[in-house]
Amino acid sequence: MTLASGSSVGAAACLVAGVLSTAIQLAAQPTAPFLDPRSVAPYVPTPWHVVDRMLEAAAVSEGDVVYDLGSGDGRILLRAARDRGARGVGFEIIEDLVRDAREAIGAAGVQDRVKIHQQDIFKADLRPATVVTVVLMTSANRQLRPKLDRELRPGVRVASYKWEIPGWNPSKTFTVPVSGAQQTIYVYEFGNHR
Ligand SMILES: C[S@@+](CC[C@H](N)C(=O)[O-])C[C@H]1O[C@@H](n2cnc3c(N)ncnc32)[C@H](O)[C@@H]1O
Repeated sequence: MTLASGSSVGAAACLVAGVLSTAIQLAAQPTAPFLDPRSVAPYVPTPWHVVDRMLEAAAVSEGDVVYDLGSGDGRILLRAARDRGARGVGFEIIEDLVRDAREAIGAAGVQDRVKIHQQDIFKADLRPATVVTVVLMTSANRQLRPKLDRELRPGVRVASYKWEIPGWNPSKTFTVPVSGAQQTIYVYEFGNHR
């Protein structure tokens, strides 16, 4: 009886200590990304073969300025610059991802052509873009649509992986195999998108 109650007191103490330790670790994180009220989509890196297909689908080439909205680890812009000679601008709110992206872009030697801003996509100036890439969510695309409508110029290509831009008509769609399923890349040509 004594032993049993001793061990339940011990177990309770361990539980309290564990909860306290987790709480302290969480509080110590300066930017818990899932708590950022600006976030409209979680970080899920796009598979490399899909990145390449998106850039091909949007016919990205030298002379293009690719804007990736929610640029994650910078992979879309890295490939756009390294493999297609384009310039790139990324916007990302998670500090660690901004740092990773800048490192990867530096390691690939394309830092002169790609800039990553730690900035909310809803505060970005999109007017210089000739190509926009988005891997967000339908709800995020819906929120973003009025800004795209205000700022993009005729002829800009918008490539969205997996999620449509509600109310816009894609000029082309492509399917890509991802983990045994078929996923869609939507390409819109601004000006002919309604
Ligand atoms: C699905 S990930 C795509 C990352 C990258 N573009 C790729 O294709 O691998 C979406 C990214 O958008 C970022 N994001 C979400 N809301 C944002 C906002 N309001 N401003 C800037 N970035 C945002 C997330 O942090 C995340 O890194």
